[in-house]
Amino acid sequence: AQTVTRNEGGVLTVGGIDVKRLAEEFGTPAYILDETDFRARARAWRTAFGSDADVFYAGKAFLSRAVVRWLNEEGLNLDVCSGGELTTALSAGMPAERIAFHGNNKSAEEIERAIRAGVGRIVLDSFLEIARVAHIAQSLGKRQRVQIRVTVGVEAHTHEFIATAHEDQKFGIPLADGQASEAVRRALQLDGLELIGIHSHIGSQIFDMSGFEVAAHRVVGLLKDIRDEHGVELPEIDLGGGLGIAYTSDDDPREPHEIAKALTEIVTRECEAAKLRTPRISVEPGRAVVGPTAFTLYEVGTIKPLDGLRTYVSVDGGMSDNIRTALYDAEYSVALASRTSDAGPMLSRVVGKHCESGDIVVRDAFLPADLAPGDLIAVPATGAYCRSMASNYNHVLRPPVVAVKDGEARVIVRRETEEDLLRLDVG
Ligand code: LLP
Repeated sequence: AQTVTRNEGGVLTVGGIDVKRLAEEFGTPAYILDETDFRARARAWRTAFGSDADVFYAGKAFLSRAVVRWLNEEGLNLDVCSGGELTTALSAGMPAERIAFHGNNKSAEEIERAIRAGVGRIVLDSFLEIARVAHIAQSLGKRQRVQIRVTVGVEAHTHEFIATAHEDQKFGIPLADGQASEAVRRALQLDGLELIGIHSHIGSQIFDMSGFEVAAHRVVGLLKDIRDEHGVELPEIDLGGGLGIAYTSDDDPREPHEIAKALTEIVTRECEAAKLRTPRISVEPGRAVVGPTAFTLYEVGTIKPLDGLRTYVSVDGGMSDNIRTALYDAEYSVALASRTSDAGPMLSRVVGKHCESGDIVVRDAFLPADLAPGDLIAVPATGAYCRSMASNYNHVLRPPVVAVKDGEARVIVRRETEEDLLRLDVG
């Protein structure tokens, strides 16, 4: 669905607009987001799951008001995890009942705001929160629909899952030692809560479905215990997000329809075995919807060859617009975007302009040996967790997000200005 290609002059184009024009009009660095691709991916997730399931886009990957409108139009729901994301969602017209509110430490103020707004579900993350949300809902004279997030004892990684050391993290309530059962017991007793289901999120950038299989098995096991103990069959199960995308050519992601089929089959099979009615499934993809839809456009500033090692290519952004390489050792690719070149390959490291040697955007990549200052380079697959995790380190200004569609480009998040920085500095 991506509309990225090269024009006759060899310039990278997206949505019918070449990157030189985009750089002239919007400056660099900039996140260039292919709206056609975003909508197509959102739609693919929606249609893959059909009407028997719900897709909640995970706003943490990237959220703006334009994105909320696209999601709304394409029939996706939204997962938010802070008051700020909630405000963005509501202000762009996402119906509150299609919003799920997450987080391990929602403030009382955020909870109250979410309940007053009428969010479709709050995902409860601890015993304290079960009591807190129940109390606030009751004081508002409401009964809030909630799910309980459990940790199923699976930690999913790209190609494997580890069944130990999994519960030693801050999210969710462990299934182990009957803790999740106890949480359900409490939630069912509280007037302010309507328990609608169980939630599980096992990790991120996952390619191997076996982690989901174990998770579904264990969550259905809990549903069965709940039925046996309380005589209620909870109507919903949420399997979280985490589906991987291709950052480099080594990654081989699954299509939404394959994922939908696999997840639906797993849950149905497990429920049949447990003689339970199959609950309504929901999922929360973030990266898999938005990740591939944007690239970061940088201008090359300085080039420093280190004999026998590599060439350091400095761009006009860096760890402030993409922290993922420094934080997770994430791998990215890079391409010369403003022209093509016949020059030989040059082992390069694309680095930023920050005062830190770990300020790396692309650790190892080949760029043409005739690369020169002023060339534009593009780093693909930066739609997820780049703008949303951007910072002002070194008082570098956060880049804009430019949406491109059918030959038109428009800013959906504007570039930060020095006035923006000074406005916050009130000392
Ligand atoms: N649902 C829950 C409850 C989550 O915690 C997350 C991600 C998602 C859904 C969406 O996961 P996705 O489909 O995007 O993988 N900043 C990291 C990723 C952290 C993800 C945190 N939770 C990164 O840049 O890779």
